[in-house]
Formats: sequence, structure tokens, C-alpha cells
Amino acid sequence: MSLLVLGANSLIAQAAAAHFAEAGHEIIFGGRKQDEPEKYANDFSIRYKTKCRAEYIDALDYPSHKKFIEDVLAKTPDLEYVLIVFGYLGTQEKAQSDFTEARRIIDTNFTGVVSVCELLAAEFESVKKGNIAVISSVAGDRGRQSNYMYGSAKGGLTVYLSGLRNRLFKSGVNVLTIKPGFVNTPMTYGMPLPKPLVASPEKVGKDIYKAMIKRKSVIYTPFFWRWIMLIITSVPEFMFKKLKL
Ligand SMILES: NC(=O)c1ccc[n+]([C@@H]2O[C@H](COP(=O)([O-])OP(=O)(O)OC[C@H]3O[C@@H](n4cnc5c(N)ncnc54)[C@H](OP(=O)(O)O)[C@@H]3O)[C@@H](O)[C@H]2O)c1
Repeated sequence: MSLLVLGANSLIAQAAAAHFAEAGHEIIFGGRKQDEPEKYANDFSIRYKTKCRAEYIDALDYPSHKKFIEDVLAKTPDLEYVLIVFGYLGTQEKAQSDFTEARRIIDTNFTGVVSVCELLAAEFESVKKGNIAVISSVAGDRGRQSNYMYGSAKGGLTVYLSGLRNRLFKSGVNVLTIKPGFVNTPMTYGMPLPKPLVASPEKVGKDIYKAMIKRKSVIYTPFFWRWIMLIITSVPEFMFKKLKL
């Protein structure tokens, strides 16, 4: 069987893909940089002795997505797993005064993912099998002043995935929503985060692999974020709006 991973340059994507490669799956690395996906495909095929290749996709180039998916499926008719990792944190402050930044955040985290998911959904629905896993975020569970542009895009994504899961269930297609907390990747580099709450990409990648194989619906990774977010979402709005978060 095969895994298509979109956003191949992410350390989380590579960590999850490593488990699939170890289990003997073919890996298709999709990314927007010409050389990076190729590099990972070569590295993985040597390291894990499994079939790997690179494909090029830009999350924001919507008109190209149909051909991209058609090409992938033509070359890999047994495609079973897709992991979508595209994401852009951006700068909240800049997004408040510059709509180009706001739009890039919304489009990379939401619109681009939806565009790809709808194409995959139609295909998997017709063959009545498949697994679509998408990285959302705990930031989508409640808006905060420090990152509500990113958080709202992820929140929209979480709701979209819930609807997609509901639509595809009867066709035997699984949709997994992945909600990581803080992860030590270039996205969080230099941020003053509480160390005990920061997970490694390897830990998150392993949780993603296990959840995809077990066809789970929603996971928090690491697991304790489920309880942290339960507390955060329980704070009444009249109190929450006064907090500096
Ligand atoms: N790190 C965290 O604490 C954390 C927490 C919760 C959720 N997440 C989510 O986890 C996912 C992975 O993030 P990460 O932490 O590994 O950060 P990252 O290293 O910045 O990874 C983001 C990935 O998205 C790709 N990407 C961005 N814009 C794209 C576009 N227009 N077209 C194609 N690919 C694009 C990047 O490719 P390039 O390298 O080419 O830019 C990169 O592969 C994201 O969805 C992020 O929102 C991260």
C-alpha cells in the first residue's frame, strides 16, 4: 500500500512517513520546493528499502490540484493513505494590518487543504476505501488574541473535517483530524514555550501513524492536550476575554 504526504518538508511529516516506510509502504512525498521532496524520496528509499518518489504541489495553486491528484492516482492506483501537513503560522500582528498575510494564513491552512481533500474525497468515495489524515491544531479549539488568524483557519479546518468524516463514513473512507499541541519544529523556533509541553516531531509522528492505522477520528497529540483544551474551552467568555493569551 502507499502513503501520499503533502508538506513533505515538515519534520512531523517525515517522522510519520518513516513509520509507514518501515512497514513497507510506498511513500510519495509532495511539496512545493523542487529539490526537497526528491531529497526525502532518495533518502527514504535507501534507508527503508521501500519505493519512494517526489511530486510537486503548491497548496495555494488551486487550479493545479486536480491534475496533481489525477497524476498521483494514475501512478499509484493502490493509494490508501494521505497525510496533509501543509500549514503556515504567519504573524498575527502583521495579519491584522496586512490582509495579504491574513489571506496566506487562511488559504494555506484552510482553502488549500479543502481543495485537495475534496478531490481525494471524490476518488476515495467512488472506490469505497481510503484514509485521509489532516493536521489541524489545538489552536483551532478556541480563538486567542495572539494567534486568532491561524487559530480560526485551523478551527474552520477542524469543522470541515468533521463534516467530511460524516459524509465519507458510509463509503468506508476514514477521515482523521490531528490536533497537535506545541511541537519542536521550525514553525515554533525561538518561541518562548513551556518546555514540558513541547513535543518532539518524532513523538507526534508516531501518534499520527498509530491513529491512521487504527482509523481513529480525532486525536490530540501528545494526548494530554485533550485535557488542557477541555479546561481552556471551559473558561466562560466573560473571563476568557480578559486574559492575555
Ligand atoms: N509546530 C507546532 O507547534 C504545530 C502545532 C500544531 C499544529 N501544527 C501544524 O503541523 C503542520 C506541520 O507544521 P510544522 O510544525 O512541521 O511546521 P513547518 O516546518 O513550517 O511545516 C509546514 C509545512 O507546510 C508546507 N507549506 C507551507 N505553505 C505551503 C504551500 N503553499 N504549498 C505547499 N506546502 C506548503 C511547508 O513547506 P515549505 O518548507 O516548502 O515551506 C512545510 O512542509 C502544520 O499544519 C502546522 O500548522 C504545528
